Amino acid sequence: MNESDKRLAALAAIAEVRAGMIVGLGTGSTAAFAIAALGERVRAGLRIQAVATSLATEASAREAGIQLIEMPARIDLTIDGADEIDDALNAIKGAGGAMLREKVVAAASDRMIVIADGSKRIGAIGAAKIPVEVLSFAHAFVADRLAALGGAPVLRAGFTSDQGNPILDCRFPADIDHTALAAAIDAIPGALGHGLFLAEVDAAYIATDGVVTRLERGRASD
Ligand code: A5P
Repeated sequence: MNESDKRLAALAAIAEVRAGMIVGLGTGSTAAFAIAALGERVRAGLRIQAVATSLATEASAREAGIQLIEMPARIDLTIDGADEIDDALNAIKGAGGAMLREKVVAAASDRMIVIADGSKRIGAIGAAKIPVEVLSFAHAFVADRLAALGGAPVLRAGFTSDQGNPILDCRFPADIDHTALAAAIDAIPGALGHGLFLAEVDAAYIATDGVVTRLERGRASD
């Protein structure tokens, strides 16, 4: 992982932020660069409102002087990191455990941009763990269903989400059909959210050795 590439990707994405927008702020070390850079633009006079995807992001945004609002019905633009992303803009998220709010914010967004250093870009998603946030009451039941799907779930030790829920980290076979898998997890009562982002991401800025590549859904990279 390359910190200066994370920053470059973040800077490229925040160039899309315009005055008056409601901006979704992602979670994690790459999103932190976007929050810091957006804070600089705000201090220079940019007027925006923002929605935080986690308590940590909320704290960083406040520190950066960015005005926060409650989750609205729609968001103009969201900028967030990812654990894996492929050229079709399928992503796996949630290593930081924030994927439930991140999914809500992404789904509400007119445009959702992933920012990442080149280590996150792979041929096809599937090597990373897929986290599933579960209702505490239902964790044994959900774990059993995830195991039946081939996910070998492991309870994330010493961790609860910002909602106070446990997370089961799953390793599914890399060649699994992720569309079918996402639908199957969505159908488990007590599974509250998962880290598969298959339709939400509209674009990605990925920086490798100082060079930023932009991927757009349905278009070749530039
Ligand atoms: C948070 O739960 C995640 O979805 C992060 O967005 C993802 O793990 C990327 O984080 P980094 O930018 O720290 O790698």
